[in-house]
Amino acid sequence: MSETPAAPSGQRPRGAAYDSVFLRAARNEPVPHTPVWFMRQAGRSLPEYLKVREGVPMLDACMRPDLVKEITLQPVRRHKVDAAIFFSDIVVPLKAVGIDVEIKGGVGPVIADPIRTAADLQRLRPLEPDDMPYITEAVGLLVAELGATPLIGFAGAPFTLASYLVEGGPSKSYENTKAMMYGAPEVWAELVDRLAQITSAFLKIQIEAGASAVQLFDSWAGALAPDEYRRSVMPASAKVFDAVEPYGVPRIHFGVNTGELLGLMGQAGADIVGVDWRVPLDEAANRVGPGKGLQGNLDPAVLYAPTHVVETKAREVLHAAQALGGSHHIFNLGHGVMPTMDPDALTRLVAFVHEASAR
Ligand code: CP3
Repeated sequence: MSETPAAPSGQRPRGAAYDSVFLRAARNEPVPHTPVWFMRQAGRSLPEYLKVREGVPMLDACMRPDLVKEITLQPVRRHKVDAAIFFSDIVVPLKAVGIDVEIKGGVGPVIADPIRTAADLQRLRPLEPDDMPYITEAVGLLVAELGATPLIGFAGAPFTLASYLVEGGPSKSYENTKAMMYGAPEVWAELVDRLAQITSAFLKIQIEAGASAVQLFDSWAGALAPDEYRRSVMPASAKVFDAVEPYGVPRIHFGVNTGELLGLMGQAGADIVGVDWRVPLDEAANRVGPGKGLQGNLDPAVLYAPTHVVETKAREVLHAAQALGGSHHIFNLGHGVMPTMDPDALTRLVAFVHEASAR
């Protein structure tokens, strides 16, 4: 048995990033401008990323603190975003508990032996606090270097992780995952429960090492109807949010195509709900209800249009966010940066958001 981690919450000293614009907005405190960062801001859109990743497989890179530090810092240096997101991947904790997984370029995570039966679950052991020394080291290096810029830790939510484990790789229709969810609900419940433990432990490792906010990616939860999400997925995600609640760091919850789930994703325990581009933020505010912040939600594809169009669309996002009535908005794209995006367009967008939202 591992020891319970030291009592977190109020006893932890406030980090150097505590009064950053990003964390102030996350707490709905007054800010000089709307903070902005981008999902997948580190990665193939940046030539400096391609250079340091040359010849290093993705998951090997995630286990090298020197590389993780450099790659995480690259978009902060270049774009002047208001937060760094830890460079890693949602499948790194699965690898840490012994799952045979690799990330195939242009494809995504591929699992050698998918998990389909109750017996397969034995391969999914708990993640212990000492299983990922390379994560603790990388976060420590980063927080020291970042100073007043906050570091966002992250993890994959139980449903999204389960979808990779059960399908064996990326999927469009999730038929094997849903077959288990509908047809073997006890096996499914045990699977997402084990994943909730792994995900909670991964987030705790990052927070204990100094991450000052966390984002739970349930990227593919949009494949589910609200009733099914509520019954089969939300309890496991709620366990994750409950597990990190004592640390008092802002908790963000994001998925793609989750317009019908936004209220439930907030109720699962998030402080801030990430919204893709399909639902305007004023409508998202209605769905999420009072007391929670929103993150988003410029359509990433807008970045391929001329600058004046990007700015018009970004202004629309800022305008819709005024429905929140305060500072509870973090500007982001509705999903990740795409590899073919022009990095200069992203740098210009950061400056524009800062300028257009100045108050
Ligand atoms: O900059 C950041 O946002 C931090 C790093 C980050 C990565 N993956 C690095 C990465 C984060 C937050 C993730 C999360 C992640 N990984 C999610 C949730 C976010 C989302 O996009 O919805 C998901 C679903 C995954 C699984 C995964 N890993 C996919 C679908 C892919 C892309 C496959 C491809 O090649 O198109 C990966 C690989 C991956 N993760 C890359 C990066 C930079 C690309 C690998 C490479 O550069 O070779």
